[in-house]
Amino acid sequence: MRKPLIAGNWKMYKTPKESLAFLEAFLPLVKGHDRDEILLFPTISSLAHVIEAAKGTNVSAGAQNMHWLNEGPYTGQTSPTMLVSIGCKHVLLGHSEQRLYFSETYERVNLKLKAANNHAMTPIVCFGEMLAEREEMRTEEVLRTQVRTALHNISASEAQRLVIAYEPIWAIGTGKTASPEMAAEAHALIRQELAHCCGSQMAESTRILYGGSVKPENISALMAQEGIDGALVGGASLVPTTFANIVHYT
Ligand code: PGA
Repeated sequence: MRKPLIAGNWKMYKTPKESLAFLEAFLPLVKGHDRDEILLFPTISSLAHVIEAAKGTNVSAGAQNMHWLNEGPYTGQTSPTMLVSIGCKHVLLGHSEQRLYFSETYERVNLKLKAANNHAMTPIVCFGEMLAEREEMRTEEVLRTQVRTALHNISASEAQRLVIAYEPIWAIGTGKTASPEMAAEAHALIRQELAHCCGSQMAESTRILYGGSVKPENISALMAQEGIDGALVGGASLVPTTFANIVHYT
């Protein structure tokens, strides 16, 4: 019922030219692949080009962030209306790098979630604990608070397109992956909190991706876990063959 989603987060990598070269190599490698939804998050300067080049294929592209307002004096920001105008239907929200380096908060993610819904966009919202929080046995409390804050006053119908990514911060770009069991445990906890916020039907239909050092070598074991509905891949999504191997997990 939950179609798996494999997403690539390109962070601050690739010029438009490099993004198009990626697509040229990648599209034939995943042609006709229908088991999983495939999504890329290029930088804002490449986004329109990638959307255009991927038109009519089984690959979509979304933005790495957005503001919640349609326009205004907000230097450096991009609005939902602007994204929709270039055919963008997906947006990544609350990524840990936004939270750690650019002071993103879940209160703002909450506003952005409402904006995404108003524009019929699919938001992919990231949650995850820091290493110190895990070591202090605070993972559960941290994740529950994050989910509750992000989904505050959001109804099941407003969250109908929501996708979640569980990304333990200590596993991002470090080569350390949460064990499949550890990830599954966090996913179950997040799903429980979703049910609490938006009802059990919504919780059951929401896809929860795992992110943090996903590679061709560990994707199959992660996907074998009940409750892991896909992956958000950083570093390993930058190379067409590597990302295609992840998409073709067994
Ligand atoms: P990583 O990044 O796969 O390079 O660990 C994941 C992410 O930040 O989404």
